[in-house]
Amino acid sequence: MQSFPAVDPIPLPAPIWLLKLLHIVTLSLHFVAVEMLLGGLLIAVLLSLFRGPSNIAARALARRLTVVMTFVINLAVPPLLFAQVLYGRALYTSSVLIGAYWISIIGILCLTYWLLYRFTARLEAGKSAWWVGLSAWVLAGFIGRLLSTNMTLMLRPEVWRDMYTASGAGIYLPGGDPTLTPRWLLMMAGGLFIGGLWLVYLAAGLWANSVQPDFVKASLHTDRLYKFFGLAGYGWLALVVVAVLLAAVAGFGKISAGWLGWAGVLVAVLIEIMLVVYRDGVRDVTLLAKGYDVWNRVVVTNWWVVGLFLVLFVAGLGVIGWLVSVVARARKVMEGAA
Ligand code: HEM
Repeated sequence: MQSFPAVDPIPLPAPIWLLKLLHIVTLSLHFVAVEMLLGGLLIAVLLSLFRGPSNIAARALARRLTVVMTFVINLAVPPLLFAQVLYGRALYTSSVLIGAYWISIIGILCLTYWLLYRFTARLEAGKSAWWVGLSAWVLAGFIGRLLSTNMTLMLRPEVWRDMYTASGAGIYLPGGDPTLTPRWLLMMAGGLFIGGLWLVYLAAGLWANSVQPDFVKASLHTDRLYKFFGLAGYGWLALVVVAVLLAAVAGFGKISAGWLGWAGVLVAVLIEIMLVVYRDGVRDVTLLAKGYDVWNRVVVTNWWVVGLFLVLFVAGLGVIGWLVSVVARARKVMEGAA
């Protein structure tokens, strides 16, 4: 039985390797922003429980989190588009099967955003705010859960027909996938990692890997191409260790030099890239075993469009860098004036 819908007759407008590369880069940036949001919010909630400097830190953090949220969302759209181009026949199907929940993400996202602003406003006004911040964190975690649900359901064509028979309205969530919870916890623990509970992150990473089916693990070691994706798993482990050492230097080494902060950012970005490459390998070898070869598509590259896209993409990154530098300079001016 053919599990996947028929392939779209319109060819892909760019080489598959380029689409995958752009997907990996943009999704890694989305994950960095997501982890900053989840980790930062939890820390802000905890700090807000205390008076004095902790409360001031909570306020400063909360103000920044509303900005981080814009990055979470804006950096989420490109990988969604690339994923749909590459894996549409699987991803659209799973999205429709959980349609009611999938569409509800928009509403939950608006609510989370509003709660973030309320959290900041209540802190500024000196009111108790922890429960508002915690509600935003729980809702953000639920959005993450729905995303993990969809990204794992797209890998299981064998359950689609039964789900659709049970309801075509998208009101059921799938069950019985041992990879869902560790995978979701891995992302949630990423936030805790940034917050300092690195051991939880490490354990979640090892767990998420261990529950992958044997053929997936084997392919990530032996396949001509995907063994390089598998290597990213070791890269992830090594970088987590580097990050812990950096944190130890920052915490106990009495070094507060600016380079340490930048090194931390760099390691965080590299960790997310390793994670994204590895999960990309897991997805490709899983789908391949079920008859979906992501490389098997007709490509008719429109280099004008690709070129224009790349120019705009690089310019967009430049504008973001410039905006960040403006904010950093403005802060220095304000600190100088204070
Ligand atoms: C508070 C907001 C958000 C949180 C906490 C969040 C969290 C997550 C998490 C946990 C995953 C990993 C799922 C997995 O593979 O197991 C993920 C992936 C993803 N998210 Fe977000 N997300 C948020 C907002 C969004 C929004 C608004 C969009 C779309 C516009 C989006 C697009 C994506 C996409 C496309 C992926 C996976 C792409 C792929 O597998 O190729 N996210 N996100």
